[in-house]
Amino acid sequence: MILILFLVGYVYSTPAPGTGECNVYTAEADCLSSGYCKWSGSSCGLYTQSQDCYRIDEIGSCRVNGKYQTLCVPLDLVSIEYKNVCGTSATIDFNYVRYPIVTTGYATYSISGLTVAQLKIAKPQMNFLYQILTVNIQVAQNKELQDILDLYKEYESAFLNITVHPFYLEKCLFQTLQNLRDDTTTLSTPEKQNTLIKFWGVASVYQKKMAIYSKHYQTNYYFLNFAQTTFSRLYISIEGQDHTTSLTWVKYERNGFVQAISYTPKFFGITDALTDVVYVNVIAQDGSNFVNIENMEIVYTQTSGTMTNSPRQLHFIADKSQIPHIKSSSITSTICDDVERTCKFILPSPLTDSQFIFYIQK
Ligand SMILES: *[C@@H]1O[C@H](CO)[C@@H](O)[C@H](O)[C@H]1NC(C)=O
Repeated sequence: MILILFLVGYVYSTPAPGTGECNVYTAEADCLSSGYCKWSGSSCGLYTQSQDCYRIDEIGSCRVNGKYQTLCVPLDLVSIEYKNVCGTSATIDFNYVRYPIVTTGYATYSISGLTVAQLKIAKPQMNFLYQILTVNIQVAQNKELQDILDLYKEYESAFLNITVHPFYLEKCLFQTLQNLRDDTTTLSTPEKQNTLIKFWGVASVYQKKMAIYSKHYQTNYYFLNFAQTTFSRLYISIEGQDHTTSLTWVKYERNGFVQAISYTPKFFGITDALTDVVYVNVIAQDGSNFVNIENMEIVYTQTSGTMTNSPRQLHFIADKSQIPHIKSSSITSTICDDVERTCKFILPSPLTDSQFIFYIQK
């Protein structure tokens, strides 16, 4: 005999994750811990624009019956490296990768209680460097973030010490970009620009570090990537989403390095990019600017799908601290090779500039 029990009538239930109303939350912490609701000062509600889909932590809200089932798409592949679970398409967009936010520590002082201001006026010394690394960049408000970047710059000589791994500068840089991109307070143009000027100040410490740390080096953080090689290697490649951007050259007058930092075009207001924005710095071994390098070419390689063979445009950017980025001049590729899926751009030989910033247009 089979006994089937039905539970009829009153069913005690809470809505499945991502399907409930946001206005049931009256406290900010509860609102945010839902993983899909937005706190706007005094009330809890939903995001209304698809550009915010990347901010969501609760994938249920993007699936069928979820609150964003028409606005956002759940990602096909979720990685433990980043927090994103939804987007405007099922593939993660590298421009919007969110690294997990660590909430231990403070943005205004180090773990042992020294304030950012105190650390800044102290001489840059090694034993304070490790205090600086405990200041939390991820939870900083914009003013605090700018102060932290000033502090990093102040400690340039300590960061250049051979005992310090370049990762700490990389971490500062990608956490700064993420902080700036995901800041939900309305930042003024000067606030953004000043932060970026300081960001590039720390990036210049990083470039000096690389020139003395290792000949060949490469690291990728989705929306910010670093590479360096020597002239003797005759090429450098930097990988982006579905593409690789390479620089090749033939001859050089003496030894030195090509350094490349590639970064998210979307954050800098570029919506027609095929590649990341790439900032190239060519230096002699002593770190000075260098241009006597011959037949440098930029090669774009599409790493998947099919490509039409029509020529592409490469745009140079005049000022890497400006939001949005503004094009200064452009060059056209030779006919693209649709079998190899490459397009090639020829630079002046020798180079006219030891530093240049560019992206390739769709
Ligand atoms: C580098 O750091 C080490 C360890 O803290 C220290 O002993 C050394 O003096 C530093 N070197 C320079 C050039 O500052």
